[in-house]
This record gives sequence, structure tokens and C-alpha cells, in this order.
Amino acid sequence: MAKILVTGGLGFIGSHTVVELINAGYEPVIVDDLSNSDPKIIDQLVKIIGYKPPFYKLDLCDEQGTKELAVKEPDIVGIIHFAAFKAVGESVQQPMKYYRNNFYSLLNILNAYDGKPVNFVFSSSCTVYGQPDNLPVTESAPVKTAESPYGNTKQIAEEMLMDMQKAGSSYKVISLRYFNPVGAHPTALIGELPIGVPQNLFPFITQTAIGKREKITVFGDDYNTPDGSCIRDYIHVVDLAKAHVAALKLMETETFKGYDVFNIGTGKGSSVLEVIHAFEQSTGEKLNYQIGPRRGGDIEQVWGDVTKSKKVLKWKTELDLDTMMQSAWDWEKYIAQNPL
Ligand SMILES: NC(=O)c1ccc[n+]([C@@H]2O[C@H](COP(=O)([O-])OP(=O)(O)OC[C@H]3O[C@@H](n4cnc5c(N)ncnc54)[C@H](O)[C@@H]3O)[C@@H](O)[C@H]2O)c1
Repeated sequence: MAKILVTGGLGFIGSHTVVELINAGYEPVIVDDLSNSDPKIIDQLVKIIGYKPPFYKLDLCDEQGTKELAVKEPDIVGIIHFAAFKAVGESVQQPMKYYRNNFYSLLNILNAYDGKPVNFVFSSSCTVYGQPDNLPVTESAPVKTAESPYGNTKQIAEEMLMDMQKAGSSYKVISLRYFNPVGAHPTALIGELPIGVPQNLFPFITQTAIGKREKITVFGDDYNTPDGSCIRDYIHVVDLAKAHVAALKLMETETFKGYDVFNIGTGKGSSVLEVIHAFEQSTGEKLNYQIGPRRGGDIEQVWGDVTKSKKVLKWKTELDLDTMMQSAWDWEKYIAQNPL
């Protein structure tokens, strides 16, 4: 079986991708420093997949440790690189924490397997587009000046990977620009585990519904959108996980050369207020919410054009907003009853 190194494999998207890799016949090897994940996620994975995948607790900023990992795991044919810090607001407050972690980890893992024919999937983000001029935004839209150090790490990393490719690297590379991953595994055994106050809408909704938070604040209802609240392209994390399998499969073909980039979303935008009402409808839970002022750094609206992903990556989403809500809610209830 083809061995795939999953960096950040105990995190939200990484853990779901481990499951989909196994479903697709790959052998995932997890590396994570647990800086934003819980070690018990490995036990949760065992409940889903029936065995304990190899796991290395390692900070990829440790250059020597990462080199040693490559010696211990020489047969890696693919790397999915999730390991990074991701809190946009925190990156504005502590930029060097973000530049340090997101670049050192990327450079060290690339150097460790340099010279080997490895297929590399990079976790990028729709933040590279800022507020696009045209919607839905396509992959060829101009990349805007990053609104945060976090966004900048994704932009620079994409450029770096492209330059590396042009110079004839042994890696093939695909950058996946995720829109807004939400939801949880249908077993409700893994899901998003935000540390502290959630920065994203879905965990805020489910934590409010379960009583952990008093109310949700909708940041602005005076945007130029049909109901005045911001619009995002929410994608179920299981659909997103499958996009990584599709990226590996594409790079395994003879015809794929070098570097490419894909939007990974549903191609449809939903407003914050629509999401709140949809949650109430699909779960029967009433949500306490209020309208507040706009939040700095939020863009008005973004959703992706996924034509290229459908055509070239041969991947598309299958799960709707209702399934996203229901699975996120099931996970919140599970974790309330079975704290990790
Ligand atoms: N969740 C989103 O909304 C979103 C959107 C776009 C892009 N992304 C990107 O997708 C990737 C995964 O996101 P996620 O939501 O699963 O985040 P997450 O924080 O749940 O997972 C990241 C994992 O990486 C680990 N990690 C961080 N730095 C590390 C290091 N130096 N060495 C080893 N492990 C390290 C963390 O412990 C965590 O388990 C990130 O690169 C993120 O920037 C996420």
C-alpha cells in the first residue's frame, strides 16, 4: 500500500483525511506536535478505522527531528501538509508565531524528502483571494495583498512551491484552496475541536445550542449582500478530505506535470443569517443570536468557482448544508457526553 505522510493528521481536516485515505486504500502515517489537537483523537480514529495508524509526535519546526522522521519513514510516496497555525486574528497579534511555524514546518518537511519522487498536497486557503472582484472566484483571479500574516503564509508558500517546481524539483505539487470547512464525520467520533472561544461560525453555533456559549453575535448586517450578513462557501469536511485523495490520484497519472492549484468549495455561498436559520430548521434547536458591529478583517462575500476541480481533479462535493449542520451538531452532542 502507498504510504502517505499526513502532517497535522490529528487536526480537524487531517483526521478526516486519514479516514478517507484508508477508505481509498492508502496507508497514512501521521505526524503532529499536538499544538492544536488532542492525542485522544488517535483513539477516536481507531474506533472508525479499526487499527492504530503509525503516529509520530513531532514539531516539524525541529529540523533534525524532521530529517530523522524521513530516515525512519523512507517509503513515503505522498505528503499531505496540514500542519500549520490557522487563527487569522491571532496571526495579526502574533505574526512571528505564524511565520515561524508555517514556514519552518513546510521547509523542513520539503527538505527532508527532497530528491525523492513525492506527491505533495499543500493546504492553502481562499484567503489568498481577499475580497475578489468577481464571484464566483476562479483559480486565475489575481491574488490580493494578504489581509493577515496567516493569509500571507499561504500566499508565500504557494509561490515558493511554484518556484520549487519550476526549478525542476522531484516533487509534484497541488495546492488546494479550501473555502470554509465545517461539519464532522458521520460517526460523530471526530470533528472540530476549537481551543478557547471559536473564531468560526459553525462551532460557535453548536456551542451556543448546547449551552456552552450564551449567544452568537452576527458581525454586521449592513454588508452589500441580500440579507446584509457576510457570505461564505461552506464545505463539508468529509468532502474536503476526499479532495486530498483526488489530488494524490491526479499526481499519480503520467500526464500530471509539476504544479497546479484548485478551489475546494461547493461553488455556492450562504450568508451567516441563512446558516443560523438553517441550523434552527434542521436541528429544531432555537439559537440566541444578536446583530453586532462588523468585525475587522472580515471580507464581505466569497464563494468559489469549482469548474476546474470538477473537470481536472474529477472531484465535487456531495454533502449539503443540512448534512454539514446535522453532523456538526451530532459531534457537539457527542463531545458533551464523552469529553476527550
Ligand atoms: N479550518 C479552516 O477553516 C481552514 C481553511 C483553509 C485552510 N486551512 C488550512 O488547513 C490546514 C489544516 O487546518 P485544520 O482546520 O485541520 O487545523 P487544525 O489546527 O485542526 O490542524 C492542524 C494540525 O497541525 C498540527 N501542527 C501545527 N503546527 C505543527 C508543527 N509545527 N508540527 C507538527 N504539527 C503541527 C496541530 O497540532 C494540528 O493538529 C492548515 O494548514 C490550515 O491553515 C484551514
